[in-house]
Amino acid sequence: MKHEFLKHLKQDHDEQKQLGQRLAEATAAGERKRLRRKFHDSLYPHLMGEEASIFKRLQQVDDEEAKKDCLENLREHREAMTALRELMAMNSESDVFQAKARALDELNRHHIGHEEGKTFGHLERLFDEQELDRLFELYEASEEGKPVF
Ligand SMILES: [Fe+2]
Ligand SMILES: [Fe+2]
Repeated sequence: MKHEFLKHLKQDHDEQKQLGQRLAEATAAGERKRLRRKFHDSLYPHLMGEEASIFKRLQQVDDEEAKKDCLENLREHREAMTALRELMAMNSESDVFQAKARALDELNRHHIGHEEGKTFGHLERLFDEQELDRLFELYEASEEGKPVF
C-alpha cells in the first residue's frame, strides 16, 4: 500500500499530464491562456513542494544512488522551470506557442516517469511511514506559500 504522500504526488502528476496534453493541443489564444494558467498552478507549487521536502531530504541521505538520482531530478526541475517561465511570458497567439507547450509537456512527462519509476522506490526504501508523514507536511507547508509568476 502506497503512502498518502506518494499517492498525492501521483495525483498531481496525472493532473499535469492531462493539462499538459490539453495545453499542447489548444489552438485558440484564450484557451491557451486559461490552460497555461491551470498548468502553471499545478506544476509550479508541485516542483517547489518536492524540493522543500523529498529532494532536500534525499540530499542528506547516506546512499550514493539516491543522491545521484536526486541531483538528476533537481536538474530536470530547473529545465521544467525555465520552459514554464518561457511559456508564461509567450504571446499565446504566437506560431511557436504549440511547439513550446509540447516541449514542456514532454519534459514534464519524462520527469514524472523518472520520479514514479525510480525516485518513489528510493523514498519507500529509505524512509519509514513517520518520515514520509513529516515530508508530506513539509510539502504541504511549501504549497501554501506558493509564489506565482
Ligand atoms: Fe519533480
Ligand atoms: Fe513530481
